[in-house]
Amino acid sequence: MTNKKATISLPETDANIELSIYSGTMGPDVVDVGSLTGHGLFTYDPGFVSTASCESQITYIDGDKGILLHRGYPIDQLAESSNYLETCYLLLYGELPTHEQYEQFVSVIQNHTMVHEQIRTFFNGFRRDAHPMAVMCGVVGALSAFYHDSLDISNERHREIAAYRLVAKIPTIAAMCYKFSVGQPFMYPDNQLSYSENFLHMMFGTPCEPSKISPTLAKAMDRIFLLHADHEQNASTSTVRLAGSSGANPFACIAAGIVALWGPSHGGANEAVLEMLQEIGDVSRIDEYVARAKDKEDPFRLMGFGHRVYKNFDPRAKVMKESADEVLQELGKENDPLLAIAKRLEEIALEDDYFISKKLYPNVDFYSGIILKAIGIPTSMFTVIFAVGRTVGWIAHWNEMISGNYRIGRPRQLYTGQAQRDFVPMKKRS
Ligand code: SDX
Repeated sequence: MTNKKATISLPETDANIELSIYSGTMGPDVVDVGSLTGHGLFTYDPGFVSTASCESQITYIDGDKGILLHRGYPIDQLAESSNYLETCYLLLYGELPTHEQYEQFVSVIQNHTMVHEQIRTFFNGFRRDAHPMAVMCGVVGALSAFYHDSLDISNERHREIAAYRLVAKIPTIAAMCYKFSVGQPFMYPDNQLSYSENFLHMMFGTPCEPSKISPTLAKAMDRIFLLHADHEQNASTSTVRLAGSSGANPFACIAAGIVALWGPSHGGANEAVLEMLQEIGDVSRIDEYVARAKDKEDPFRLMGFGHRVYKNFDPRAKVMKESADEVLQELGKENDPLLAIAKRLEEIALEDDYFISKKLYPNVDFYSGIILKAIGIPTSMFTVIFAVGRTVGWIAHWNEMISGNYRIGRPRQLYTGQAQRDFVPMKKRS
């Protein structure tokens, strides 16, 4: 850390407060404000727009340049040349695996894909028409009941086993959420298949016949998982870190991340994008919806547009758009009307002063739904798919925190409620 300093001069006193400034490998410097409480001050930053909550070495984002690096490797290079499990290894261990390390990692994940048979009974407590994300929250949270006693979070090996179990089992549980919703039998994992082939097998296979997995769809699924793997200190990752900072079981922390991801402002946006495109229905109605998105009196927003960090294009959206073209072409669906609406909507929005001035570009969720729909994933499962891809990022951040020096996260507030006052007995109240 450097020895640069910032100074705050306080009104009404001559006090000057010196604060240390730290520089990272890349990105903005940070001001250490920890000593402000000693001067009777808090920082105030609702939504954490200007707050660095931690130090991390996992993912770097430059919102102005549209840069996304995982352990230093650009997302477009990983999407082009790597695969999801190799990227999982990179996020968890910090380096790309050798061939032997990769083979070993794949084997361990493949041999942890089954869930305890009792897990199947959890599903029976839900209605068949429950949203799959609601079921996912419940079942992943329940995993902590199965591993609570065998997990010492201060033990590196225990944390590694928890990481393997979560990366390996989350697709199995996700597919179970889908099968439960359509009244079909759960499919056991097939360890002869790759991670994404296995997921499609568990989603669309039936006990009545052998699964026929399209390599095109498996490749598209793998790319979707890879592009969702991690994204710095987003809302759900910050939730996992905050839950983990109390020493909670990692399975419970991941369930907390799933809950935070569900919101339409975050991971729930991919489902909302598809619903929006279907509601627009035709390119002739795009202008009407763009006008609504610009109208301050209308709560409607263009789903899949805008980002807290990216004020230029989201590099994942760029790769996702290319993948959408490839997948639809290979499936003979290149004339998909929703893709036509999405592309025209992007063109119109990016020429509109409102979106240009507010730096609103398509984000990761704008095109992902089109690919998921082409693969045959129902819209209600889109955020579940996001959660499957992101679990490795959540667990990598949880592990980075727990393996280092951390304290329980406990923000303060600007209190604007009532000053102290005395209790009034009921009979004296008017
Ligand atoms: C993800 O953080 C991450 O990294 C998240 C994520 C990840 O990988 O983890 O990248 C995944 O969550 C992507 C974002 C998915 N959400 C959506 O697509 C929902 C639609 N977008 C927005 O609701 C919004 O853009 C957010 C939530 C993404 C960002 O919100 P911010 O940073 O708090 O920005 P804001 O709401 O303050 O908006 C700034 C201005 C506002 O106008 P003014 O008040 O300044 O006049 O831009 C406007 C907003 O009204 N605006 C939009 C808009 N998004 C922002 N107007 C119309 N349509 C939109 N989509």
